[in-house]
Amino acid sequence: MSYVLGIDTSTTATKAVVLDHSGRVVASATSEYDYQTPRPQWSEQDPELWWTATCRVLSEISGQVRASQIEAVGLTGQMHGAVLLGSDGRVLRPAILWNDQRSQAECDEIRRRVGRSRLLELTGNDALTGFTSSKLLWVQRHEPDVWKQVHHILLPKDYLRFRLTGGFATDVADGSGTALFDLKAREWSGEVLAALDVERSLLPDLFEGPEVGGVVGVELGLQTGTPVVAGGGDQAANAVGLGVVEEGLMALSLGTSGVVFASTRTPVVDPKGVLHAFCHAAPGYWHLMGVMLSAAGSLRWFRDVMAPESSFGELVDGAASIEAGSEGLVFLPYLSGERTPHPDPEARGAFVGLTVRHDIRHLTRAVLEGVAYGLRDGFDLMMEAGLSLPDRIRASGGGMRSRLWRQILADVLETPLDSVNTTEGPAYGAALLAGVGQGWWDSVANATQAVVRSQPLAVPGDKVGTYREGHLRFRELYPALRSFNSASKTAPKFL
Ligand code: XUL
Repeated sequence: MSYVLGIDTSTTATKAVVLDHSGRVVASATSEYDYQTPRPQWSEQDPELWWTATCRVLSEISGQVRASQIEAVGLTGQMHGAVLLGSDGRVLRPAILWNDQRSQAECDEIRRRVGRSRLLELTGNDALTGFTSSKLLWVQRHEPDVWKQVHHILLPKDYLRFRLTGGFATDVADGSGTALFDLKAREWSGEVLAALDVERSLLPDLFEGPEVGGVVGVELGLQTGTPVVAGGGDQAANAVGLGVVEEGLMALSLGTSGVVFASTRTPVVDPKGVLHAFCHAAPGYWHLMGVMLSAAGSLRWFRDVMAPESSFGELVDGAASIEAGSEGLVFLPYLSGERTPHPDPEARGAFVGLTVRHDIRHLTRAVLEGVAYGLRDGFDLMMEAGLSLPDRIRASGGGMRSRLWRQILADVLETPLDSVNTTEGPAYGAALLAGVGQGWWDSVANATQAVVRSQPLAVPGDKVGTYREGHLRFRELYPALRSFNSASKTAPKFL
């Protein structure tokens, strides 16, 4: 029996999944780690953690299947990070991660140098602190001694590829998330690179998701010579795992961050530059995506701060006893700043409308509803960008385990939600891409049709009208609080 392996280098763990030809998971392993926030708005990680965790999961996998049975490997991971290597392949500074917000001034500088509309035309995206390009400019400006030594710029999963194969390569889905990319051509943008003083030679070679970008060159629970396909950024790979490849299909993921994701057959760009337009991990497909930074992360924060002794189940059971609308209490989920629909590192979270009648049950329900309203904002932007209303949405992520939260989401999005049989996230999608690369299926879409099955999870009910009103009130709050939050910035003691 032969298998394919997917490895996901996420922000909090490395996960490996092994699939057989029917898409059944035959082995899996996870190894966790943390990331650092050495200063407000900073988020960094030592790439060595990813390698150590990979060694651990591969050693665990080798106890479950034989190395000779693994035909190919697919890689996925957290997007938009900046991993900087010297000429000897040494890591020059901690990787700056996707959720790092330090580079607002550099985003303004990128818009000034390239022109905002030209940037949208070329890359499909505005300059956002989350993306790689402004992080590179930040290192150029603030750490010129480091920048001088940079020989290779990699995305997190591609650092792992370098350690596994010795090569410098990436896939077009992750590549387009750098915002240094020509979205239509599926190639690095010479114009953006020149404007940002980034040499093309610093960037890795580009491949489509199922294309082989190197072979394993180390003894590590895998046979040397095993092909490693390019794979995809975690959102594109997750969508592959959910079977969201064909145009018209949409995915919703409720993890630490919350994502609405739609596959497209052409590059569709949000004229406001608030949604992200990237290449899909399937050749010939693109996707549009809205990313909310603190989705299930908001509930985790709330539990940790307000009720550390309670389980999520207990908290949510309390919220279920409260009427939809939380008796007028509204939660703004911008705990880490925001990306979609407000690309604003200074955005802040809030509970608004508190009265003495509210208790922890109302607060919890307001968190669940506020996150759903934020996702609805991303969904609405997709419709405004010209996508058709989907019949159904494929939902995934830890937050979907809550019956109440998924019902709120179906009501707020006014669309039925489905779950799928493939619950292993991006690692599963990366393994499918490896299978396509090996010719197990003749396209990514056919691979997903062969292995992914969906079933109904929640349908909109009688609370749709209440939430429509709630969403309108929610939308008033960000503009109302914006000047207050940016004024706090000039008074650092209130940061
Ligand atoms: C996508 C994004 C996150 C990270 C971390 O744009 O920023 O999904 O990839 O998972």
